[in-house]
This record gives sequence, structure tokens and C-alpha cells, in this order.
Amino acid sequence: EPGPKPITSALDPRFTPTLYAHVGQPGSWTLDYYRRHGGYEAAKRAFALGNDAVIEEVKKSGLRGRGGAGFATGLKWSFMPLNDGRPHYIICNADESEPGTFKDRYLLSEDPHQLIEGMLIAGFAMRASVGYIYIRGEYIHTHGRMWDAIHEARAAGLLGKNILGSGFDFDLQVHTGAGAYICGEETALMNSLEGLRANPRLKPPFPAAAGLYGLPTTINNVETFCAVTHILKYGAEWHAGMGTEKSKGMKLFQISGPVARPGVYELPLGTTFRELIYDWAGGPLVEMKAIIPGGISCQLLKWSEAILDTPMDYEALAAAGSSLGTGGVTVIPKNECIVNTTWNSVRFYGHESCGKCTPCREGISGWMVKMYEKLVRGHGQPGDTDLIVDMADNIGGRSFCALADACMGPVLSSIKLFREEYDAIERGQPLYPAVQGRWRDQ
Ligand code: NAI
Repeated sequence: EPGPKPITSALDPRFTPTLYAHVGQPGSWTLDYYRRHGGYEAAKRAFALGNDAVIEEVKKSGLRGRGGAGFATGLKWSFMPLNDGRPHYIICNADESEPGTFKDRYLLSEDPHQLIEGMLIAGFAMRASVGYIYIRGEYIHTHGRMWDAIHEARAAGLLGKNILGSGFDFDLQVHTGAGAYICGEETALMNSLEGLRANPRLKPPFPAAAGLYGLPTTINNVETFCAVTHILKYGAEWHAGMGTEKSKGMKLFQISGPVARPGVYELPLGTTFRELIYDWAGGPLVEMKAIIPGGISCQLLKWSEAILDTPMDYEALAAAGSSLGTGGVTVIPKNECIVNTTWNSVRFYGHESCGKCTPCREGISGWMVKMYEKLVRGHGQPGDTDLIVDMADNIGGRSFCALADACMGPVLSSIKLFREEYDAIERGQPLYPAVQGRWRDQ
């Protein structure tokens, strides 16, 4: 079962959802349904335009990577060498694992042809012969849907040789992960695809120069490929007309925590937290104190009127001291102990560290987890928080990949914004005793 149905902006006539237009509709995952709703028209347009023009179209659209980093998609595609005679690969990163992030799973299970079409267009533009869809192991219900859709597309001549008479040959494969967060890091993902242990590789070289099997490769997120389908269908100007000056297009925002209607909402970039939380998600059910803006690797933001009015786009969130990340918004209630909340994040990163580099392996999986455990179990002493900050300074920026830096986001921002909660625990007088009771049960 694909889990609870998401709530989307389809409920509101102010916006026309594209990526999620068919999520929740009976049979939306079949080729027949997809074709009845204009499916594979974008690919035809792409073939008519030609490879380089497709890259230009994506550049003009202003699309930025939806996996979290927001790197310009068209620019990334243009790093691929042209006509060098070697095999080229594209990879769809469907290892959606960032806590608070649950948008790609519905694209995979409810509209797999939208992704196949986006990858077909991308493969054509970048002269790729094969595309791999790397799906996190836990999304078990999506694997079969994706394979079924690929088989349907192959049988209809939409994958394989001379697709739609274009002369372009391209095929897709699904690879299922085994439940490791690090496999979402693009170079670890490629190692995993090659059958190696999923340790990250040094960058540069970036994947376009030396990617899967050392060959030119481009990796994009599920939502990014799906957005490409609509850019080719409706044109770059259409896409560039939505969102803000530098953050273009629609975005799948997710909201979790105690709000009336948690779920996925397809809204233009630049929508404010207030609109998402109050207008769309029906408002908070309890008093709030913090917002995680885009998955737990982002810095926390303190709940305030000004933050609620902050547009959710790459620039505004960077200016607010955080980042848009995956658009996975989590709201944190006032009576939740922030040290306990942060301990959850730290344990997650400690568990998911691949162990390759010392700052992450010893610093997070070892020391940081133990320090937080000490605090939440009621054994905190004066100086513990300063020690955590000191450790964080020696972990952040010193690890092999972004995983350790990601963990320092919630750690340092929670200390900066809610220092009084840490101090109270050091004094043995937690501000939220009810929560302390829960720790002791764990
Ligand atoms: P990054 O900024 O290092 O790279 C982003 C993309 O741009 C990569 O594909 C990279 O190869 C490319 N790139 C960056 N600089 C380049 C250059 N100079 N030349 C050529 N290509 C270049 O970010 P990273 O580490 O790939 O991703 C971090 C983000 O991932 C975080 O912002 C976080 O929000 C997100 N994330 C998402 C998860 C999910 O489940 N969707 C899970 C964990 C993190």
C-alpha cells in the first residue's frame, strides 16, 4: 500500500498542479491513463527540438535541482561532454531519505510515466544510453510500480531502440537500495550501483567528468526530472513565470508535525511559511516554537511573525540563516524539549554515518551521540553544551562529505536559538519535565 494519500493544491482552484496533478487518481500509474492526459507529448517536442536545444530550454526555465541543493539543472546538464563517443549515463536519485521529506514517493508510485518521460528527455539531451533509477529500499511499494511502467513503456516503443522514430536508443533500469541514507549522496549512490560499499567519493571530479563506471554521468532528483517533463510540454517561459526572480517554478512542499492537514502541497517557490502552515495545512494544533524548513539537515528557525512571512525560496531562506533543502517543513511544538528533538537528529546521523572519515565516525556516531544521551538522560553537567559546540566546530567542514555538516545544522542552530533549554538541563532542571519523563522510558 502506498500509504496515506497526500493533500495537494489540486484542492484549491488558485493553482494548477502539474507534478501532482494525477496523484491519487485511479489508475494514474498506467500508460493508458498517462497517454489520455497528454503523456509523452513532451518527449515528442524534445525530439523535434534536438538535444542542445533541450538543454537550452531547461537552462532558460530556471529549474534548480529539487533534491535539496538547488544547483541549476540546465547548467549541470551542460557539463556533460558532447559526442565524445563514450557511453553516457543519467541517474535518478530516488533514495529519498531526508527526515521530513516524502514528496518523491508519490511521484514514483502514482505517476511513474511522468518520471520516465522526464528521464527520456534528459537522456536524449545528454546523449545517454541508459538511465538508472535508484530507489530507497524502504519504498518497497514503488519498485513494482516503476518496473511495471518501464515494461509498459518498452512494449509501446517509448524505451528501447529508435524511440518514437527519433533514432534515439535509451533504456531504464531500477535499482533498489538497502536502506542507507548515505546512498542519497550522489557519489556513494554510484558506488552502490557499481556493487561497491556506499562510501562517498572525492569531488571533484564531479559526475559529469567521472561518474558511474568512471563515465560521464548526471544525477538528478525525481522531482527535477518530473519538472523537466512539464518544461518541455509547456515551455521554458511558462516555468520561469512561476516562483521568484531566482527560484523559479512550482515546488512540492511537505509539512509534518501537529498541524490540521499535514501532507504534500504543490505551490510556487516563494510561498511563505504562513501560507503553507495556515492556509494550506490548516494551521498549528498547538503553540509552536521552531520550524525546520527543508529536512533535518537545515538550520532550525525560531517561530516568529517575521519567519512566518519569509518566502520559501533559496535566497530568502539563505538570508534567514537556513536553506530550502527538500522543502520538507517540520514544525516543532513549544512544549517539545529541543534537546530531545536534536538528539533524535543526532542519533539518526550517528546511525547513518558510513564510517569512512574520522570526524563523522568518531565525532558523531561516537561522541556527539553520547553527549546528547548524557543530557537527555538527566546526567548533564555545566560545560556540556560548550563541549558540544567545540566538538561541532571540529566536525563541521572537516568531514569527507556533507553528512557531518548536515548534522551540525540542527545541533548548532538549536544551541544558538534555545540555549536556555540546554543550560537548564545542565543545571538538572529541564524546562520541560513531562518530556524528561518520556526520556526515562526510552
Ligand atoms: P552539492 O551542492 O555538493 O551538489 C549539488 C549538485 O550540484 C550535485 O549534483 C553536484 O555534483 C553538482 N555540483 C555542485 N558543484 C558543482 C561544480 N562546481 N561543478 C559541477 N557540478 C557541481 O550538494 P549535495 O551534497 O549533492 O546535496 C546536499 C543537499 O542534499 C542538501 O542541501 C540537502 O538538503 C539535500 N539532501 C536531500 C535528501 C533527500 O532525501 N532528498 C537527503 C539528504 C540531503
